[in-house]
Amino acid sequence: MYPRAKIEIIEHGSESYLAAVRLRDEILVNPAGVVTTALDVAVERELIHVAGFLDRKVVASCLLVPEAEAVRMKRVAVASSLQGGGIGTRMLRFCEAHARSIGADALTAHAREPAVPFYVKAGFATEGEYFVEAGIPHIVVRKRL
Ligand SMILES: CC(C)(COP(=O)(O)OP(=O)(O)OC[C@H]1O[C@@H](n2cnc3c(N)ncnc32)[C@H](O)[C@@H]1OP(=O)(O)O)[C@@H](O)C(=O)NCCC(=O)NCCS
Repeated sequence: MYPRAKIEIIEHGSESYLAAVRLRDEILVNPAGVVTTALDVAVERELIHVAGFLDRKVVASCLLVPEAEAVRMKRVAVASSLQGGGIGTRMLRFCEAHARSIGADALTAHAREPAVPFYVKAGFATEGEYFVEAGIPHIVVRKRL
């Protein structure tokens, strides 16, 4: 639905990164009121940052965390007005390709309950039971690459 949207790796600390942090803090509101802190920003230096752009504006973002044999996606968010338009799925596909390119055999996430159908439609399977993270029910989702 948004064929002009481009998904890219962005540099930590760049303008795009700061826009991505603002986007995810706006979209991923949680009951604990947790937002990205200066400490998070410092820790995130080691992570892989992904953003979706529409007309050069950051409209989607997530983080990739390389773990033992899998890559974990974190803080997955699409701008409210564009949700349901396929940008999230394109970002998932990009992350799958990137994870594969760095030798991972799976892509995982801790999915918020309402977002589980989004992951399942993209071929992820749930694992185990729901648990509470940042005051919200989550479940592990995993896709073998
Ligand atoms: C979840 C999110 C990242 C999905 O991105 P998106 O661009 O909206 O998703 P897409 O348009 O690619 O949707 C793909 C499919 O998943 C479904 N889907 C997406 N979000 C959904 C939701 N919250 N509940 C149920 N289904 C959902 C869509 O209906 C679509 O199915 P369809 O192709 O049959 O219509 C985005 O909606 C979002 O940022 N939501 C708020 C924050 C959030 O929950 N992030 C995930 C934290 S784990």
